[in-house]
Amino acid sequence: MCGIVGYIGHREAYPIVMEGLKRLEYRGYDSAGIALYDGSDIKLSKTKGKVADLEERVKEEITTEGTIGIGHTRWATHGVPNDVNSHPHYSNSGDLVIIHNGIIENYDSIKTELIKRGYVFKSDTDTEVLINLIEEVKKKQNVKLGKAVQLALNEVVGAYAIAVFDKNKPNEIVVAKLGSPLAIGIGDDEFFIASDASPFIEFTKNAIYLEDEEMAIVRRDKKIKIRKIKDDSEVNPSMQELKFNLEQIEKGGYEHFMLKEIHEQPNAIRDTYRGRLLAKEGIIRMAGIDDNIEKFLNANRIIIVACGTSWHAGLVAEYIFEDLARIPVEVEYASEFRYRNPVITEKDVVIAISQSGETADTLAAIKLAKSKGAFVFGVCNVVGSTIARETNAGAYTHAGPEIGVASTKAFTTQITVLTLIALKLAKANGSMSNSVFHHHLQELELIPEKVKEALKADEHIKKVAEIYKDAKNCLYLGRGYNFPVALEGALKLKEISYIHAEGYPAAEMKHGPIALIDEQMPVFVIATKKGHYEKVVSNIQEIKSRSGKIIGIVTTGDVDVKNVADHVIEVPETIESLTPLLTTIPLQLLSYHIAVMLEKNVDQPRNLAKSVTVE
Ligand code: F6R
Repeated sequence: MCGIVGYIGHREAYPIVMEGLKRLEYRGYDSAGIALYDGSDIKLSKTKGKVADLEERVKEEITTEGTIGIGHTRWATHGVPNDVNSHPHYSNSGDLVIIHNGIIENYDSIKTELIKRGYVFKSDTDTEVLINLIEEVKKKQNVKLGKAVQLALNEVVGAYAIAVFDKNKPNEIVVAKLGSPLAIGIGDDEFFIASDASPFIEFTKNAIYLEDEEMAIVRRDKKIKIRKIKDDSEVNPSMQELKFNLEQIEKGGYEHFMLKEIHEQPNAIRDTYRGRLLAKEGIIRMAGIDDNIEKFLNANRIIIVACGTSWHAGLVAEYIFEDLARIPVEVEYASEFRYRNPVITEKDVVIAISQSGETADTLAAIKLAKSKGAFVFGVCNVVGSTIARETNAGAYTHAGPEIGVASTKAFTTQITVLTLIALKLAKANGSMSNSVFHHHLQELELIPEKVKEALKADEHIKKVAEIYKDAKNCLYLGRGYNFPVALEGALKLKEISYIHAEGYPAAEMKHGPIALIDEQMPVFVIATKKGHYEKVVSNIQEIKSRSGKIIGIVTTGDVDVKNVADHVIEVPETIESLTPLLTTIPLQLLSYHIAVMLEKNVDQPRNLAKSVTVE
């Protein structure tokens, strides 16, 4: 959580840092702040609220000259969101200033020690403790800022991506990383620092992603120096070329990023299978799988670890892998897996799914699985992210940047990648005949056009949203491949409209939840032709006879559900294993429209952040 951004070079730092904060606001948005060096002193402004509030505050409080600056957008961990707890934080002398993404776990004991030595603290944050520890080390050991940061970090336990500068040495910024992401953009005699590359994409395509336990000193007109925090050894920087552009991270005429991202799904799915799915030739090419096929084929089982929406994609994958490739699969919440002493052996393959590639629990689950000798495969969206680097092999979803906090295109592209893997394994282990394999490839190739078709129901979905927007509770039901879609539909509604919603396997209704049904309860039922259709129709009848309101997600041309349901939303027909890629679409749109009608902040729902880098 939290976004950090910094600049040092020959341009005005303010517009770069401020624009960068706007792009990183998905990482946290309960307070924001900025510090600039104007040639003689640090100018600092910070406030509770969004980056837009900071922009107003800056106008009243500070001048914005200067070619060195740092900024922060916060998702509170230690200390409530208020002006004082916002970053940046000064050291006691006022010489040093810091921004920090992460948590210093042993901050309390360090704080007690520092208080004994006369330090005073204005905020409740762990970050203010860290900057004063750096100051104390710098003074006591009479070392330069870089060394002081290094020595201080060797005393802390926790996670961090930090940027620090000293007003007495305003030609350098010291950055360091452990657990939280940190990218450095390399320009001509200038450096950009950020939690991801989006703040500097229009200035440079060259970036270095710091690895855990690395720090760097970036100086105007000098080459970057990277060192290991623990043993001070020098690290050769490995430069990456950034492949996305500014247009991809802007709203492109849509009112919200979420809506833009929902509509991007046809292209995102196509981009995800492009070059991998060769339907005519009957081939799936995926280097990460091709190079490690024996590991998959000899595995006792596949364990999928993920959180939230990515976990739902994992559940869909369980159906796909077991049904098509006959490989046993277990799907685990990463946060449970990492702490429950699971049985993992060298014969297990673990697939970690993560849009951001930074989710702390998923990362910890990966480390645990690796330590037990399992082969770990990553399915990530963000290129160069920590999980992408931490796994033994992987496949990217090429969804492009997902900015809306509620995941949409990440989900469908994750399912696309997982389907490709399952089909490849099904073919390789002989679970699927050639003709069925070909048929699946052809159907998958048609999905982007079918998603486009499903998106055309938008106006109708808006009308349905209008009818149910004031519901206090909603149920989502599905069976088989569409049970995880029901969970995902409920999560989308909860997180952006704050309406309580539950997802259930349709047949579980009668074991409890049916007691909730009355005329006030909208029930969204996924009832496509393929997949237990008759059974689901019976479940719908059970709800109807208890006066529940039924909104069916059905196959185009459906008659049976239409006869009983209050409303239906149609999606094109496809093979059963691919239905989640279509049934998800109307549920995303429904949640979106309800949240807009309720005037909620769709792209930045309360209490959430895009990238959950704390456990
Ligand atoms: C929900 C949502 C979250 C994420 C979860 C995992 O819309 O976005 O539930 O899916 O925090 O994030 P990643 O996929 O980045 O690991």
